[in-house]
Amino acid sequence: MNRREFLQYAAAAALALSAATNAIAQSGNAETRQNPIDKDNGGTNMKHELPALPYAYNALEPHYDEQTVRLHHDKHHAAYVAGQNKAEEMLEEARKSGDFALIQHWEKQLAFHGAGNYMHTLFWQNMAPNAGGVPSGALAKQIEADFGSFESFKKQFSAAAVAVEGSGWVTLAWKPEWKKLYILQVENHQKLVIPGVLPLLVLDVWEHAYYLKYQNRRADWVDALWNLTNWPDVEKRFDGVK
Ligand SMILES: [Fe+2]
Repeated sequence: MNRREFLQYAAAAALALSAATNAIAQSGNAETRQNPIDKDNGGTNMKHELPALPYAYNALEPHYDEQTVRLHHDKHHAAYVAGQNKAEEMLEEARKSGDFALIQHWEKQLAFHGAGNYMHTLFWQNMAPNAGGVPSGALAKQIEADFGSFESFKKQFSAAAVAVEGSGWVTLAWKPEWKKLYILQVENHQKLVIPGVLPLLVLDVWEHAYYLKYQNRRADWVDALWNLTNWPDVEKRFDGVK
């Protein structure tokens, strides 16, 4: 097989894989398909779009201020969406031209911005006005089984969030193969995760997420989350994957 034939073969294989992936995605239930994250992964040539906030910019006051929410969503999250589209576009160009000289750069950009887009999309949905409280149903039982109690879970999650080195996240994630919940620190948007875990609840501890209101008091920002946690959203995600 010469190079041209190989490239044609690779393009055909990628299309077949994409069609199979879409067929699997479309076989999910209606609720899964309504998830903006799933909707965003609709096809080979589809551009990712910044999902709209599920509430008004000022809806999370006083715990999360309007100015930060506006900047965080409209500028920072938007930049990750743009960065992901750019990386995907440049990788497509590289496949077309056969020039992979910048492959390392664009693969890193794809992971960073793609994860940034994904985590922020979850983050907005994980919060709601006048929320907080405690989880219920199957998620509550699993938290008790894996962390001893909700209070122990909360303490570990907060401690992990405060202690993330530099910019990053903390997540409550489900590992389907091991049927277990984990709290993981995530550096940048994508480092330190166990492959295959499914984030259910995420908290952004990049300084851009809280500095205007909380300055260097990251622990106060982490405390504020517990007044905004949209447990029904987290429970729905768990029920969909457990
Ligand atoms: Fe962020």
